[in-house]
Amino acid sequence: MAAGTAAGAWVLILGLWGSVVGGQNITAHIGEPLVLNCRGAPRKPPQQLEWKLNTGRTEAWKVLSPQGSPWESVARVLPNGSLLLPAVGIQDEGTFRCRAMSRRGKEAKSNYRVRVYEIPGKPEIVDPASELTVGVPTKVGTCVSEGSYPAGTLSWHLDGKPLIPDGKGVLVKEETRRHPESGLFTLQSELIVTLAQGDAAGPTFFCSFSPALPRHRALNTAPIQPIVRSGRIPSSESVPLEVQLLIEPEGGVVSQGGTVTLTCEASAQPPSQIHWIKDGIPLPLPPSPVLLIPEAGPQDEGAYSCVATHPSQGTKESPAVNVIIETGEEGRAAGSVGGSGLGTLALALGILGGLGLAALLIGAIMWRKRQHRGEERKAPENQEEEEERAELNQSEEPDAAESGAGGP
Ligand SMILES: *[C@@H]1O[C@H](CO)[C@@H](O)[C@H](O)[C@H]1NC(C)=O
Ligand SMILES: *[C@@H]1O[C@H](CO)[C@@H](O)[C@H](O)[C@H]1NC(C)=O
Repeated sequence: MAAGTAAGAWVLILGLWGSVVGGQNITAHIGEPLVLNCRGAPRKPPQQLEWKLNTGRTEAWKVLSPQGSPWESVARVLPNGSLLLPAVGIQDEGTFRCRAMSRRGKEAKSNYRVRVYEIPGKPEIVDPASELTVGVPTKVGTCVSEGSYPAGTLSWHLDGKPLIPDGKGVLVKEETRRHPESGLFTLQSELIVTLAQGDAAGPTFFCSFSPALPRHRALNTAPIQPIVRSGRIPSSESVPLEVQLLIEPEGGVVSQGGTVTLTCEASAQPPSQIHWIKDGIPLPLPPSPVLLIPEAGPQDEGAYSCVATHPSQGTKESPAVNVIIETGEEGRAAGSVGGSGLGTLALALGILGGLGLAALLIGAIMWRKRQHRGEERKAPENQEEEEERAELNQSEEPDAAESGAGGP
């Protein structure tokens, strides 16, 4: 029964020996020495201990003991039982185990999982964009990190926030290469963005290298600040600059003291600067798309045009429009300005002439009618007069009455 228990204990120990129990994770800097201690081992020979390692250099388990010879320049057991790797390399990643017997005959085990690392140089943005155009996919730059192990990752940040590739506005092309001898990684990340209207005017980009190992700090590139160009400039370059001048009241005829509003409309964006010209002479006014003439007088008459000055498309003058002031008595002054004014004046004069003629005719008819009715009404009046006269003159002219009454 005791023998059976002992056998069971051995099976348990062997089982534990084969698995990762009490494992310790070690990260070692590539190229530097690494010492792994064998727990429970006597500090000095003679010792009963054995190192077993399974790494990138071993085909199966490699066994090293204090009595045996060192494993080339790769590893050897030190006099105090620890294992020394003079210069750790990528191939030394793996599992390291030690089993030792203490002087009192107690067995102890050590178990290490070794990983190696290399910190890359500071990442850099090569070919940084000097300007971005709104609405146009533009390469911001290529972020390059050289000499990392493990590979790690690159990420882009805009105004301090991580840029998540979405396949539309944010596109990232990544490439990972490995140095054939050192085994270290070179990472590349090309960022292509399509800025939307209203995105930050002065965006700040930077790229960050994040190590694959915990408790290792991220490394950031220097920031870049490309200039943002409005996307509307290239689209409007193909459209010629159109300049239109609108006048209110329509036709440009305004009575003296009235208000004239001239509005200049230029097609291109950003808005053009508008200057005004009257009868070929530039008006000394600050640039404005609207020219207001309140209380218009004869001095405001003339041919007006506007000139649009666009930052990328040069200048263009609108067709001229005439402003005509109608004064009550001196309508003829307006006639000298333009054809349309003359026509309007002629029409007005024509109407006035017509009205005058009509008034004359009506007057004449009325007068004639009045005359006629006056004649008609004269008879009874005369009759009455005669009767009155007859009454009055009864005594005076009895002969006449008598003669009149008894004439027939
Ligand atoms: C060691 O690393 C492995 C995976 O890398 C993890 O599962 C384990 O918990 C780690 N052990 C310790 C003691 O940190
Ligand atoms: C054994 O010796 C090495 C080198 O002198 C030392 O770094 C290590 O800590 C020692 N191990 C123990 C368990 O004292």
